[in-house]
Amino acid sequence: MTDLSLSSKNPIAVRTDALVVATAKTSDGVAIVADHLPAELVTEIEAIAPQLGITGARDEVRKVPAGPRLKADVLVLTGLGERAEDGTFAPEILRRAAGAATRELSGVASAAVSLPATDDTELAAVVEGSLLGAYRFDRYRSGDDDGAKAPVGSVEVLTTLARGTKAKLAVERAGILAGAVHATRDLVNAAPNELYPASFADAAKAAAKDVKGLKVTVLDDKQLSAGGYGGLTAVGQGSSRGPRLVKIVYAPAKSAKGAEKIALVGKGITFDTGGISLKPSASMETMKSDMAGAAAVLGTMVAVARLGLPVAVTAYLCLAENMPGGKAQRPSDVVTIYGGKTVEVLNTDAEGRVVMADGLASAVEDGHDTIIDIATLTAAQMVALGPYTAGVMGTESVRDEVKAAADTAGELFWPMPLPDELQANIKSKVADVANSGPRWGGMLNAGLFLRTFVGDTPWAHLDIAGPSYNEKGAHGYTSPGGTGVGVRTLVAFLENRAAK
Ligand code: BES
Ligand code: MN
Ligand code: ZN
Repeated sequence: MTDLSLSSKNPIAVRTDALVVATAKTSDGVAIVADHLPAELVTEIEAIAPQLGITGARDEVRKVPAGPRLKADVLVLTGLGERAEDGTFAPEILRRAAGAATRELSGVASAAVSLPATDDTELAAVVEGSLLGAYRFDRYRSGDDDGAKAPVGSVEVLTTLARGTKAKLAVERAGILAGAVHATRDLVNAAPNELYPASFADAAKAAAKDVKGLKVTVLDDKQLSAGGYGGLTAVGQGSSRGPRLVKIVYAPAKSAKGAEKIALVGKGITFDTGGISLKPSASMETMKSDMAGAAAVLGTMVAVARLGLPVAVTAYLCLAENMPGGKAQRPSDVVTIYGGKTVEVLNTDAEGRVVMADGLASAVEDGHDTIIDIATLTAAQMVALGPYTAGVMGTESVRDEVKAAADTAGELFWPMPLPDELQANIKSKVADVANSGPRWGGMLNAGLFLRTFVGDTPWAHLDIAGPSYNEKGAHGYTSPGGTGVGVRTLVAFLENRAAK
C-alpha cells in the first residue's frame, strides 16, 4: 500500500513529484484554497483557470506545471466545490477531494497533499481519502499499458497539526481502515472462477493469520448439511463448488467476561446466476460482487483486530455459489434453516436471504447481544435509494446507531422501515415463511424475512446491493468495481460501542 506520512514542511519547499492543493467555487469564480502558496502564484493560476477549464467543482482534478516558485514538478488542483454556509468544508468533502487527487496519480512516485484541514477530524479525513483513492485493481492485466500503473508510491500530508498525538493516531487508523477497504475491494473484484466458497474461506484464513487475535473455523458442505444448515446447503447444492460457513472470533482480553458480544453476518454469494430462476444475462454481469457483504465483514474483522478494539465480535460469512446445476434447488422446495424454521423457496434468485437465515440463526444461538448483517440483498434497494445510498433496517435503535456511524465514517446509508403490514407478503402456503413476495417494497420484504430469524436480538440489516459495486466511472476516492462499502461504517459502529 501507499506509504503515508505527516509533515509540517512548507508546501513551497517540498520536493515531490506532485503537490496537491485545493480549489473551490466562489461567487467570483475559482479560488485556490492554499494559504501557504506564494500569493503571485495563486493569482496567476486563478487568472488562467477559466481558460484551462478549472472551475473548483467537486471531483475536478487538474494538473498544471508547478513553475519555478515551487520545488514540486506538478501542481495538482482538486476541487472542493462551494463552501458550506459556515465557511468550512465537510470532512467527507475533504476525504473525496484528497482521494480524487491520489487516484489520478497512479504511476507517480511521490506526492505531497496540502488541503485545508483545520482540526484533527478534518486531517483524518484528508489522510483517509488520500489512501482510499490510491487503489488500483490490475491483477489480471498482463501488459504495462495505462491500466496497469501502480498507485502513487508515497504521500506526505502537509499540516501544521503533524506533531500532535491525535494526528499520529489518525494516520495509523487510516492505514488500517484503507488496508481493510482495499482488501475488501480486491475480494469483490476477484473473478468468480478464482473466488468460490472454498477459496474465499482460504482467503479468510490467510487474512486472519496476518493479524493477532482472530480465530477462524470453517464448516464445509458435508458439515453444513449434517449440522442442519439447510439454507446454505440448499443454495449451494446447484454448484459443483460446495458452500462454506466461516466463523471468525475476535475476543480481546480487554473486553471483560460477560461484556457484550456483537455478531456480524455477511452475504457471500461468490456468483449469483439466480439458480433455476435464472437471471437474464445482462443482470448477471456484475454478480461476482454478490459476496460484497461477506468481504466487508472480513475486512472489518481484520481492521478491528489491528485496531485492538476492546469489544468482542464474531463474524459469520455465509458463502455459496448460486448455480442451476442438476442438483440445484427448485422453486417450491421447502428447506429447514438452522434452528428449525422452514422456508418455501418460491424464487431461487432470492438466495441471499436463505443463506443469511442460517448465519443469523447461528449468531442468535451463540448468544450475541447485537447482530448486524450486511448483504447485496435486493435490486429493490437500488430502486428505492439509487446506486450510491445503502439501506439500513431493523431494530430502530440499532438502525439509528448504524446511520450515525455511517455519517461520521463518510458512507451513505439511509434508514428504512420494516412495517408489520408487509409481513403478509412473505407468508407461505406451506412453510413458516416464503423467500419472496410481491415486487413492491422488495427491500423491506427481504428485511422482514431476515427478521424472522433474529427473534428478539437487537439487530440491523444493511442492504448494500447498489453501493457495493461501482458500475460507472471513478469518482472521489471510489474506483470502478468493488467499493468496500460497509467496512468504515461497521468499524465506526464498533468503535462507538467500544467507547461506551
Ligand atoms: N444478488 C441479488 C440482488 C442484487 C441485484 C444485488 C442487483 C446487486 C445488484 C439478489 O440475490 C437477488 O437476485 N434478489 C432478487 C430477489 C427477488 C427474486 C425477490 C431481486 O432483487 O430481484
Ligand atoms: Mn439472487
Ligand atoms: Zn444474490
